[in-house]
Amino acid sequence: MWRLGNISLLWNLMAAVIFLGQARPNMKVNSQSSSGIHSDCVGNLMRLSLDKALAVGNELEVAAINGTQYIVLTPNLAAQCGYSMESDLWGNTRIYSSLLGCYVDNKEDQTFNVGLRLRMYSPTQSDVVTHDVTQTCSYTRWASREILCDRNYMEVSHHIATSEAKGQAQDVKWIDTIPDDSGAEHGIWKLTFYTPEPVSMVLREAEQAGYGAMLTSTRLVMRSPYNTAETYSEDVDGVSMEVFRVSAYYKAPLGLSVVNLAAACPTGGVLVLNDVISWHVPRRLKPLVDDSFEILEKHMGINGKRLDRSQMASRGYTLSTTEFHIVIEIPVGSPDGYYKSHAPDYQYHIAYIVEPMLEVLWRTTGTQDDTRYKVLFPITTPLVLQPLHVQESKLSGRRQNHGLVGKCNKPVLCPSDTVPEARVFSVVLGPLLHDVVLRNITFLTKVLTVEESNARGFTVQEHLYSNGTKSISVLVPFDADIVLKDNPELLVTTYFLSLVFGFMIIPEEAPFAHPVELQASLQDVELPTITGTCDQNQFYISVKYGSQGNNLKAMVGHQQLTPEMADYQFQENGTHFSLVLPYTAKDTTFELITSDSLRASVDFFLLHTSNDWVLADLFLTCNFPLTTTQCYPNGTMTATAVKVDSVADIPSRLTLKDQSCKPAYSDDRFAYFSFSVASCGTKRTFFDHYMLYENEIALPYNKKASQVGPQYRQTISCYYVVNETQTVGFSSKPRLFEPTAEIGSGQLMVQMRLAQDSLYELFYQAEDYPVVKYLRQPLYFEVELLESTDPNLELILENCWATLDEDQTSLPSWDIIVDSCENPDDSYVTIFHPVVSDARVLDPSHIKRFSMKMFTFTKDEEVLKDEIFVHCDVEICDAHSQADGSCRGQCVKPAHQMNYRQERKRVQRGIDSTNQRQISSGPIVLTSG
Ligand SMILES: *[C@@H]1O[C@H](CO)[C@@H](O)[C@H](O)[C@H]1NC(C)=O
Ligand SMILES: *[C@@H]1O[C@H](CO)[C@@H](O)[C@H](O)[C@H]1NC(C)=O
Ligand SMILES: *[C@@H]1O[C@H](CO)[C@@H](O)[C@H](O)[C@H]1NC(C)=O
Ligand SMILES: *[C@@H]1O[C@H](CO)[C@@H](O)[C@H](O)[C@H]1NC(C)=O
Ligand SMILES: *[C@@H]1O[C@H](CO)[C@@H](O)[C@H](O)[C@H]1NC(C)=O
Ligand SMILES: *[C@@H]1O[C@H](CO)[C@@H](O)[C@H](O)[C@H]1NC(C)=O
Repeated sequence: MWRLGNISLLWNLMAAVIFLGQARPNMKVNSQSSSGIHSDCVGNLMRLSLDKALAVGNELEVAAINGTQYIVLTPNLAAQCGYSMESDLWGNTRIYSSLLGCYVDNKEDQTFNVGLRLRMYSPTQSDVVTHDVTQTCSYTRWASREILCDRNYMEVSHHIATSEAKGQAQDVKWIDTIPDDSGAEHGIWKLTFYTPEPVSMVLREAEQAGYGAMLTSTRLVMRSPYNTAETYSEDVDGVSMEVFRVSAYYKAPLGLSVVNLAAACPTGGVLVLNDVISWHVPRRLKPLVDDSFEILEKHMGINGKRLDRSQMASRGYTLSTTEFHIVIEIPVGSPDGYYKSHAPDYQYHIAYIVEPMLEVLWRTTGTQDDTRYKVLFPITTPLVLQPLHVQESKLSGRRQNHGLVGKCNKPVLCPSDTVPEARVFSVVLGPLLHDVVLRNITFLTKVLTVEESNARGFTVQEHLYSNGTKSISVLVPFDADIVLKDNPELLVTTYFLSLVFGFMIIPEEAPFAHPVELQASLQDVELPTITGTCDQNQFYISVKYGSQGNNLKAMVGHQQLTPEMADYQFQENGTHFSLVLPYTAKDTTFELITSDSLRASVDFFLLHTSNDWVLADLFLTCNFPLTTTQCYPNGTMTATAVKVDSVADIPSRLTLKDQSCKPAYSDDRFAYFSFSVASCGTKRTFFDHYMLYENEIALPYNKKASQVGPQYRQTISCYYVVNETQTVGFSSKPRLFEPTAEIGSGQLMVQMRLAQDSLYELFYQAEDYPVVKYLRQPLYFEVELLESTDPNLELILENCWATLDEDQTSLPSWDIIVDSCENPDDSYVTIFHPVVSDARVLDPSHIKRFSMKMFTFTKDEEVLKDEIFVHCDVEICDAHSQADGSCRGQCVKPAHQMNYRQERKRVQRGIDSTNQRQISSGPIVLTSG
């Protein structure tokens, strides 16, 4: 079976007889051309062309029509009988039939009826279409010798002597004796081939050996396929020729004759140089010519048909003669031929195929013996590597149809013409022949068919050009996942696309691949942005992704943030992520402690994943409210020491002045102290209006010695301020370069209670007021400094007085205690009672007791009101301090003050007595009961 292009020529298969639904079976074609079938006569040949539209995809069976019979032409039978056929790559088929071939209805060597039946069947549809073609040719200009070199056979025919022309033909001899045993009638009897050694066989043997031999009314015809046992090769003037020589013995009406016949057909002589095919045929075609002959005519043709001068000129063909050769020149690529794809070593190659014809008529000098010599010579140029050009087209909006520009023909990085702003890679690959189909494209590692590629949005298109080539274009958006991205610079993205086109050459199914790599750079990076805020306790950081999405590393300080860091409340959606850091988080740094706040900061930045460029950063610093010292009314002080960034000390090693007082709790950034004001080396100082406790947090001395750089020293203080609402405020005084200390606040209470009796064990409670007393019934008062544990403090009652009204400044008023002593004018006798320690009383100096008798205010003997309120000015002082003149004890007066009498201007009391305070009892009601 010959497979040529899309069509298979079926020489030796009997076709199934099934017809296509729409086809017209057994269509008779008597006209010159019908529905894609065209037949004509070209000299001594009948030529039949079959259009590809009919044959494409089908298999073709050709049979000769001999009257009512159909003889299927196998390749051997075709060569023996003078038929040849050839298909191009698209299925265009040309069939030649020698007019002297078998089965041709030959009328006196002048009119020839050739009939062929073409059957096409589709391998998939199992349908058969049959066309019968008959063509009548007239050919009368027979030369005495005609030699025909067709694609698959050599044919030679001689005019043979008729009775009138006996003896005229040069190569015909008359033999007088007819062999006895032949018994033959007219016809060819014996053949002697020269190989060059003579080999004889009778006609039947020769036919069995594949030779054709025939007598027509005026000619003897011999035909031989190439390369048979009885042909031989010979080099003639540098051109290899296949030679066929035979002596044919035949019986003619006038007797037995012998004719010497010879054919010599070129099998070489083609040179392809600089895209020009030069076909050399020897001028002196030994053994066909003697030394002296003259060329009468020479013609060039294509596909069996002569061309005239202008046709040749328009195609750039030349026919010339040199001393030894006749030369035909044809430019490679001329439209009479066609290209065919090949893929040796999986590389794309093409070859050009064209079928020129040479026809020469010569005459032996001094005779009338003409020889017509005709060669049909299919030429296939050597395969040439066909560079595939990659063009990246400019895509500025609408798509254009591309011409191909060849520059970048290697599978390497090509100069990028893709306009990056369009963000699409556009590749055009070509030129390719029609017998190449794109099967798949390998993107990175994924192999996709053309359909799958289009479904994925990579537009794959085929572009056909009028010269019969095509190209393949592919559009791949930069953002496709098969495009690799890299950032050579912070704001520049380089996109890489790597493709491998998987092609197949049909119909032989030869695969080859073509890799293409593309690259484009674009300044298209939009950086992420960071914003941050704080509240009282936490940092809030929010990141808006840039063009590279979450392809980044977030760093908090030196630590890379991962979603697993749950304590940072990491949250992410497609466009943002956020996190929340407590200011105490370990990735923050403390910068400064101020009196009421801690300044902390967080260094947050975003890094490029692969090369650690900083894409964005935020250094967020906030002041967080922080009370580091607490002073409690019961004399407990607490202090928090904070390690700031500039100090290297370790919090756990810090101590108070008394180095045995270590932190109650510490970690690597905080130390927490809790101690009584009476311990840990706390220093107490009295000022005019304040009482100050002071201590210091520092490293033990011996450890400090070896230290370099800033050292930790934090003074903590509590001020006690006496004010009229019985609170004690305090603050600590900063003393250190850094950190500075802080202010705390607390309350220190003084209370006055009325006891039920002189034992001072039971007291009236708040709900008991107004307490009801008889006139002159004793009232037992106790004033107490609450909660303090400092045994050095003493509470002193400066002044006490009674009023009718709750308002301690109201008038009238009655003094009970004046300048810390009993009112000497008082007839209702005020008595101080000593205080001793017991289960309830821990520090007797914190408590004073006195009693007086219930009285009423009268005016003009009238009781003004049966209710009184008692108020006191209270002073708290250091019982042991010599310097503190005001703290001399209850009713211990210095000499110079002995006779001082306090004015009854209660309104002035207390307010400027800075370390004093005032307290009042609830109402005490006189009952007459
Ligand atoms: C062809 O037809 C001729 C005349 O009809 C006949 O003599 C000959 O045998 C046929 N040839 C074949 C091969 O059938
Ligand atoms: C065919 O045409 C295309 C586009 O014009 C061109 O690129 C290609 O080279 C041509 N091929 C041949 C063989 O002339
Ligand atoms: C892709 O096409 C090439 C050429 O036709 C072929 O050799 C190869 O097997 C194909 N690959 C896949 C995965 O189909
Ligand atoms: C992601 O979160 C940000 C802020 O937290 C918000 O502005 C944005 O709309 C959110 N986007 C989506 C897709 O939910
Ligand atoms: C003092 O008061 C504070 C706060 O109420 C408390 O935590 C502490 O234990 C008290 N100290 C003493 C010695 O009672
Ligand atoms: C007294 O102490 C209270 C509570 O600390 C405070 O609100 C008030 O202003 C103080 N009064 C004076 C006069 O300092």
